[in-house]
Amino acid sequence: MAILFNSPQDDAGEFEAWRKPLTAADPNMELRFWPNVGRVEDIDYALVWLPEPGDMQRYPNLKVIFNLGAGVDKLLADKTLPYHIPIVRLVDPGLTSGMTEYVLLHTLRHHRGQHVLDQQQKDRVWRQKLFPLSRNRRVGIMGLGVLGADAAAKLVALDFDVAGWSRQHKSLPGVTSYHGEDGLEAFLARTEILICLLPLTAETRGILNAKLLAQLPKGACLINAARGGHLVDADLIAALDSGHIAHATLDVFHKEPLPADNPFWVHPKITVTPHVASLTQPETAIPVVLDGIRLHKTGRPIPNTVDLKKGY
Ligand code: NAP
Ligand code: GLV
Repeated sequence: MAILFNSPQDDAGEFEAWRKPLTAADPNMELRFWPNVGRVEDIDYALVWLPEPGDMQRYPNLKVIFNLGAGVDKLLADKTLPYHIPIVRLVDPGLTSGMTEYVLLHTLRHHRGQHVLDQQQKDRVWRQKLFPLSRNRRVGIMGLGVLGADAAAKLVALDFDVAGWSRQHKSLPGVTSYHGEDGLEAFLARTEILICLLPLTAETRGILNAKLLAQLPKGACLINAARGGHLVDADLIAALDSGHIAHATLDVFHKEPLPADNPFWVHPKITVTPHVASLTQPETAIPVVLDGIRLHKTGRPIPNTVDLKKGY
């Protein structure tokens, strides 16, 4: 059985980190590190992150594409993908807990005004300010899927007042659920720290725009850990410069790596992180992929197969 591997980190060390445990689990698995794939007819499964557009159609016997990340927006942008086979997105405990750590870290920074304290240290200013109890801090998560639901549960455990917005209504302990177009306005009106964990689809592209930001209360903060395409960059800069939005933490961008001349790098009210909110961890992702291959071989459906109509 031959498996095409396209490393998320694009290096040989990452390839070995996958090859060794996979071949230890099943010696019949032969991992081939793209672009050295050998005979294209041999390839049964593909484990890929951002493959070159057009590449996936080259393998006539390909049975499943495992996307080595949660978001499939870039993958699905390739109109030549073999859409008749399952395309499976990654849901694994390491990816989920990584994102929850990121959300907690930056929610707490906003909640406690850490950006202001960082500046005070630079200016050698000693000034105390009382921050609200977490139960009085209203956090809102756009996207209450695998990642949003886990982050929401951990924020509830810290006693934050948590709401989520999704397509369908959700019943999650301690989380107020808003859904659909009709629920968005009320969700935004009560949200002081907004976290975007939506998939990027035709419906959600550009959703973080001037109209949406204006519906947040004055002084709200934004954390975008989903995709750069959700944000209208100029609208965020305008909302920060007017003082309506107090601070934004951005992990994802229209163009990655973020170009050196992008104003986000130096904006005093923006924190930039280099798409590290949650990276795919071989230790937890490999068992998930192995399970997926086993299920496919026994003719059973693979969990987290992408719904092509919804686009996520
Ligand atoms: P998921 O389980 O598919 O959850 C998606 C959520 O978004 C669902 O709750 C869904 O609502 C909601 N949603 C989708 N379209 C919507 C719409 N038009 N209106 C309202 N709600 C909508 O996805 P996930 O695993 O949580 O991942 C979310 C995203 O995080 C990924 O797509 C990826 O872009 C991003 N991500 C980023 C990083 C990073 O390092 N920055 C790492 C991993 C993932 P329903 O539940 O009602 O369907
Ligand atoms: C990372 O951005 C992912 O989608 O897993």
